[in-house]
Amino acid sequence: MNFCIKTSYCALVFLFSQCIHANPTMFSDVINPNSNQELSQNDWRNSSLSMDKFIDDLLEKMTLDEKIGQLDLQSGYRGVTGPFVNAAYEQQIRNGNVGAIFNAYGAEFGKRLQTIAVEQTRLGIPIIMGHDVIHGHKTIFPQSIGEAASWDLEAIRLSAKIAAKEASADGIMWTFAPVADIVRDPRWGRVSESVGEDPLLTSAISVARVKGFQGEDISLDDTIMATAKHFVGYGASQAGRDYNSTDISEHSLWSLYLLPFKAMLDAGVTTFMTGFNDLNGTPVTGNRYLLEDVLRDKWGFKGFVVTDYTAVKELVAHGYAKDEKHAAQLAFNGGADMDMVGQTYLKYLKLLIEERKVSEARLNGAVRRILEMKWRLGLFADPYRYHDDKRAAQRILTKENLAAANDMARRSMVLLKNHNQTLPIDTKKINSIALIGPLADNRYDMIGNWAGAGDRGAQPVTVKEGLESILGEDVTTRYAKGATHSYLLSHTGMSSLMDIDVPVSGQTVQDLQTEIDEALKIAKESDVVVMVLGEDQRMSGEASSRTELSLPGNQQVLMEALRSLNKPLILVVMSGRPNDLRWADSNVDAILHAWYPGTMGGQAVADVLLGKYNPAGKLPMTFPRTVGQVPLFYNHKNTGRPIGSANPAHTPAEYTSRYDDSLNSPLYAFGHGLSYTQFEYSPPILSSEKLTPKGELTITVQVTNIGDRKGEEVIQLYTHQKVGSITRPIKELKGFQKLEFAPGETKNVKFTLTPADLAFFRADMTWGTEPGEFDVMVGGASNQVQTLAFTLTD
Ligand code: NOJ
Repeated sequence: MNFCIKTSYCALVFLFSQCIHANPTMFSDVINPNSNQELSQNDWRNSSLSMDKFIDDLLEKMTLDEKIGQLDLQSGYRGVTGPFVNAAYEQQIRNGNVGAIFNAYGAEFGKRLQTIAVEQTRLGIPIIMGHDVIHGHKTIFPQSIGEAASWDLEAIRLSAKIAAKEASADGIMWTFAPVADIVRDPRWGRVSESVGEDPLLTSAISVARVKGFQGEDISLDDTIMATAKHFVGYGASQAGRDYNSTDISEHSLWSLYLLPFKAMLDAGVTTFMTGFNDLNGTPVTGNRYLLEDVLRDKWGFKGFVVTDYTAVKELVAHGYAKDEKHAAQLAFNGGADMDMVGQTYLKYLKLLIEERKVSEARLNGAVRRILEMKWRLGLFADPYRYHDDKRAAQRILTKENLAAANDMARRSMVLLKNHNQTLPIDTKKINSIALIGPLADNRYDMIGNWAGAGDRGAQPVTVKEGLESILGEDVTTRYAKGATHSYLLSHTGMSSLMDIDVPVSGQTVQDLQTEIDEALKIAKESDVVVMVLGEDQRMSGEASSRTELSLPGNQQVLMEALRSLNKPLILVVMSGRPNDLRWADSNVDAILHAWYPGTMGGQAVADVLLGKYNPAGKLPMTFPRTVGQVPLFYNHKNTGRPIGSANPAHTPAEYTSRYDDSLNSPLYAFGHGLSYTQFEYSPPILSSEKLTPKGELTITVQVTNIGDRKGEEVIQLYTHQKVGSITRPIKELKGFQKLEFAPGETKNVKFTLTPADLAFFRADMTWGTEPGEFDVMVGGASNQVQTLAFTLTD
């Protein structure tokens, strides 16, 4: 996008100050629900035949059983010595019953399995090896929700690229990422795997990840196939309970949940994964409308669709299929090409074809798509291309990868509160720090959930180590665990209410008090108290939903005890979801959200606490005050009685849309995040009060770093259409720019809006604009904006 276009206005601005040349990320750049996808043509180096001819010939040779075998995705296991498959699985590969395998990595191990496929089956068709490489393979980057908080698309692309580089050197050629589920309910544990509540941000980040994983060409030896998941609506699991049903209006489906998937498709994502969810009465895994009519026919997706884990079988429990055979029929005819783990296709497809309930043409189409990906990966040219031991040694956990993980972790951190500039800690003014909390010297949780092949033992750097590496001997660090960050009482998998009294931590009340006393003791002896609290990483991720958002265990008791000492009190939170931080917000001096920061996380936290890095993260998801406000998201509708609209004549305040016992507003809004410096925004200027159907509009704001530290700011642009054939959200993110400012520096930040940025699914479900009045808002958070008005003309 070009800046400083030739208007006299811009020329004036240019003379006035420096014009920014960073590319803003705009709505219309990442979201285009009308375009068609074409797979890029690759150079199939070692084959003299074209891909189509090669696959035509191969399909001719394949028996029905061999074809069905290609549709089967099996899982290896992970044991203490690493991943493995048992002899029965090896035999399945030998029998030609496996098209792909996952949870089975390692160059040597992969080579063994590939050798069976290539040398011991009739046709020697290589298998695809996949893994959940979600936020790193062995060098673990911050949990996805943390990466999202960086709003830094280039850093996120790089993180995915490094993950692909490591994974592809370790026998992996396919990842089950990006997760592009839009999320509005922090009780759902998988918000940690998501990138938050906004469709533009989710689309932009998911596209950056697809580009990072797949690069220009998936046949290169450092790229892997990506998977757009979980298609679609899974993030709307009712009540935030994992695997629960979803009920999404057609309008919300199209204007919210589908958008990131369309954006990934346009970016060339090679595979899609179906969600576990029942969507409006039809589970997605058997949803012909979504998988065939939308994904293939309307959008033109050319890759293959894999189901989620045993999701085909689960059609029976959903009450959609009468038995597993029926489930296989519905899922396969519904458009799901590859069956993950359930083996229903293996068992029933042949019979279903014989009974003419499934057509051979449908089978050939699915097999062709899978073979095409094998071709595009370069597996027919060289099936062992991902199985080179030497490459693993050179590419995994390198210094550069660890430095990138440290950089990304620093970028992911969000400074939620900083009363009286408590942070960064001024080490010249203190002699000692009390470092307290179950996550302060903890490697296990540091890398979060879905941490690829990441090590939870020796590898991760803890906060204690990070601080000590910087502080040297001038400042003493005293450490105490202080509390437990897991549930104190068993609550999951209860077979009877009796189970509720089982302490999960195995600690007695006396043990817990002893830990708090130790923490109080070292806190009393120290000048500053840093608490590193949060959730056990197992409390988010798959099958890890909560009904509370509070800090678990006895951490609240610990915080209150430490507050009573009246020392500067700093809270670092590590968790995979927005927590209820009401008490901390009122009682703690500074709060830094560090999510699960990854292998280098402790170093990154230390860099931020001690001011070696100035935090610039912004929340990708609203932090409610209380779980009772959930779902709470910034881009909501206004209602007929919005709070603040009280008019004693006909709508007294108590009859507006509000709670009796809480404010409506969040504790921390979407887009919120502080810095160690401060940014001042000038009144924004619009190039015109009218936008014509073919025209464009610029919004310019001067942003000045008024502090004395270098810092980055994410400048956010929102719009609101006042009237629509479908009511419009009160705010929608339309663009953002992350820019660095030297102390005292002013930049003119300019956004260009075109009608394409204002398009939406109208009442007739067509995508386009409606003329009318708009507010345009610019600022440093969704609740810190300045507003101007313009009209979109006919
Ligand atoms: C189930 C999860 O829902 C999905 O995200 C993951 O990719 C598969 N299991 C494979 O591990």
